[in-house]
Amino acid sequence: MMKKKGDKILRHTASERINHWVVVIVFLFTAISGLGFFFPSLNWFMNILGTPELSRLLHPFVGSAMAILFLFMFFRYLKYNFIDKDDLVWAKNIHKVLQNEEAGDIGHYNLGQKGIYWMLSISLILLTVSGIIIWRPYFAEYFSIPVIRIALLVHSLSAILLIITVFVHAYAAFWVKGSIRSMIEGWVTRGWAKKHHPRWYREILEEEKKEAEKQSQK
Ligand code: HEM
Repeated sequence: MMKKKGDKILRHTASERINHWVVVIVFLFTAISGLGFFFPSLNWFMNILGTPELSRLLHPFVGSAMAILFLFMFFRYLKYNFIDKDDLVWAKNIHKVLQNEEAGDIGHYNLGQKGIYWMLSISLILLTVSGIIIWRPYFAEYFSIPVIRIALLVHSLSAILLIITVFVHAYAAFWVKGSIRSMIEGWVTRGWAKKHHPRWYREILEEEKKEAEKQSQK
């Protein structure tokens, strides 16, 4: 999957990038309309999908679109997000990481990114299940009032968890220079890969070596 483009290394394919930014857009519509329903002082957020009535109608559909589109990301990145022993080295040296140094032989993602991935996944599962239970007029009638009350609480708490997680994720993305470009243009420099994800970089070098050997045999 990783291809060489001169000094550039492909980190995210076009389809991954499109998937990511469409999820961001649907997330913004869902989160803003949801905050509008929840906080009286933010009721004016309900105009985000046209009118407050339209927001109420569309919020569950837009939320479902986010969950379905995120599912592609979930399966795409699952293999990179299992925690390993180098992640513990990263965690023990978090003070260095906060000073812009790197720690541990990091692969495709570091422990912080893995944590974000699992927080996003857990909050989206909770939001989807609780959202279906409270979805009037389609599904809510199949559940008792106490179940709907619990689902409302779970929906609100997991929405807050998702919003905070996305803020931390976006902050980290802007903080690590070169990350945003990788999600817009797709590529990172060799220096970036070596500094932030040394084990991933070595895997790429291996792939390139194999590719070069194949070419020379032709
Ligand atoms: C404005 C908000 C956002 C920005 C600026 C942003 C930026 C980025 C960037 C730069 C990466 C690549 C990181 C790397 O390759 O090292 C990334 C990866 C990713 N993003 Fe976002 N993102 C945002 C919102 C979201 C949202 C709303 C979701 C899902 C609900 C999301 C889910 C992911 C996932 C699953 C990855 C794969 C990496 C991982 O597992 O941590 N992002 N994002």
